[in-house]
Amino acid sequence: MTIGVDIGSRNIKISKLHTVDGCSALSFAIMAEYAGGEKTDVNAEAAISQKIQKMVQSVSAHAQSAIVSVGLPEIVTHNFIFPPMSIDELRGAVHLEAGQAVSIDLHSMSTDYQILSTVENNQSEVLFVAVPNPVINRLLRVAVRGGLSVSTIDLDNLAVANCFAAIEPDVEKQSAVILNIGHVKTNIVVMDGGKVRFVRNVAFGGVHITEAIANRYHVSMEIAEEIKQQSFLWNSLGLNMKNILRQCMPDLLEAVYRSMEYCMNRKRLLNVDRILLTGGTANLTGLDRFVAEVFGIDTECWNPLDYLDVGESGQKKYGPFLCVALGLALRENNPLCLN
Ligand SMILES: Nc1ncnc2c1ncn2[C@@H]1O[C@H](COP(=O)(O)OP(=O)(O)OP(=O)(O)O)[C@@H](O)[C@H]1O
Ligand SMILES: [Mg+2]
Repeated sequence: MTIGVDIGSRNIKISKLHTVDGCSALSFAIMAEYAGGEKTDVNAEAAISQKIQKMVQSVSAHAQSAIVSVGLPEIVTHNFIFPPMSIDELRGAVHLEAGQAVSIDLHSMSTDYQILSTVENNQSEVLFVAVPNPVINRLLRVAVRGGLSVSTIDLDNLAVANCFAAIEPDVEKQSAVILNIGHVKTNIVVMDGGKVRFVRNVAFGGVHITEAIANRYHVSMEIAEEIKQQSFLWNSLGLNMKNILRQCMPDLLEAVYRSMEYCMNRKRLLNVDRILLTGGTANLTGLDRFVAEVFGIDTECWNPLDYLDVGESGQKKYGPFLCVALGLALRENNPLCLN
């Protein structure tokens, strides 16, 4: 079966499902850190490939068919609305429209699109995506050298949406803004009634919080990382995490606000029931409260493993890291067997 491989800038996550009585159960979801030490891009690529190889070997000896994903801020995403037309006509219309609407040269980019939903008057809302070729080439190089045979390249955002739609109960009755906050970037996904309404990526992640702490206390990034993760130290150090977040999060907060505004102005969203935080940085103590205060919207950390049977393995705490890898594995497998 196909595995989902999320090659983040700090952690690699791999998940695999198997079929039980017609539904998918989790075979494994593993994570390994690889960042640090590697100075050149070539060395970094080799280190990532080696890590993938080791991870795959640790759970099975074969080369694996894999779905991987991209989610960098330099990816161009654009929503278009089209009247009813055939699939072939739509393909042409998307490329024509994208060529006019997007102010960058699409020749050096790989492009694709997906119909998000049918809106008023049977029109289709389409998500157009353009990814710089070097990003795709690097991803494929790393994956192939890691022993993977790549069947599909997805968007991090769509994998997050896929994971949420597969796992969250009553998804069709709610609207949510999901923020997958990793090490260097955040994937924003606006969902309503189980459908993706809008996606965007922003260059904000845990490293920016660590940098702010390192600058504030004149300490190394390693020490700042420990301070960040151990909230019991904050009082004795006089660290006001809210001030740090206010200082380094404005771009993300603005992007979240604009994403909601975009959807509401186009009547794709009436209200936002919840903001859900996932990704490694969702573990930051108090981040949920901070985001809730900024937007006046219920905000919580979303852990996909809360809904799956992972036994007593202690894996549950890694759940927030695993949303993309799970969402990727789910693309080519049966729906999940839920608790
Ligand atoms: N307990 C914690 N408190 C605060 N931050 C944490 C905690 N645990 C992990 N992090 C942060 O989570 C980040 C890594 O998360 P994740 O694995 O989702 O990123 P990634 O997918 O590798 O990166 P990206 O998607 O940005 O390329 C790191 O910045 C790390 O410091
Ligand atoms: Mg990530």
